[in-house]
Amino acid sequence: MRSRWRILVLISLALAACSEDRAVTRGAALYADHCAVCHGADKRGGGGAGIIGLSKTPPDLTLLSFRAGGTFPRAEVLAILQDYAQGTQSGRRMRPFAHLTADARQRIRTEAGRLRAPEPQVALLTYLETVQQP
Ligand code: HEC
Repeated sequence: MRSRWRILVLISLALAACSEDRAVTRGAALYADHCAVCHGADKRGGGGAGIIGLSKTPPDLTLLSFRAGGTFPRAEVLAILQDYAQGTQSGRRMRPFAHLTADARQRIRTEAGRLRAPEPQVALLTYLETVQQP
């Protein structure tokens, strides 16, 4: 009986790791398609064609944790992505991006408790968290 539990626990841990990997891969693809044009392929905010005409330089997205005092601010970044997806962010420096909304919602644990967010936003968030510099 005990070993059956252990196997179940191992299987669920493996599944969790798999879905996290999948989210990172999907987030990386979304980033390359929709964010790199301004924030740079290296995520350092270098930007490219997308930044022409912007009133502000796109920030370095590898320093989100650093700027938040060492912990990746999931709820904060999610709120930015949500505003961005809906085109409601103040100043409208990022373009509204309908691809970031989806009916499929996922649960995510954040510093502000558990939240439910559209799958593409969770994928981008998961990806951005893996590229943070210490
Ligand atoms: C048209 C250019 C442009 C595109 C495309 C763009 N961004 Fe941005 N982004 C900006 C600018 C400019 C800011 C700074 C806005 C401000 O401070 O008001 C910003 C800010 C942010 C921030 C807040 C960072 C901080 O330190 O406060 C995050 C997170 C972010 N972008 C993520 C993304 C993601 C993820 C994508 C792709 C889905 C994306 N951006 C696409 C221009 C862009």
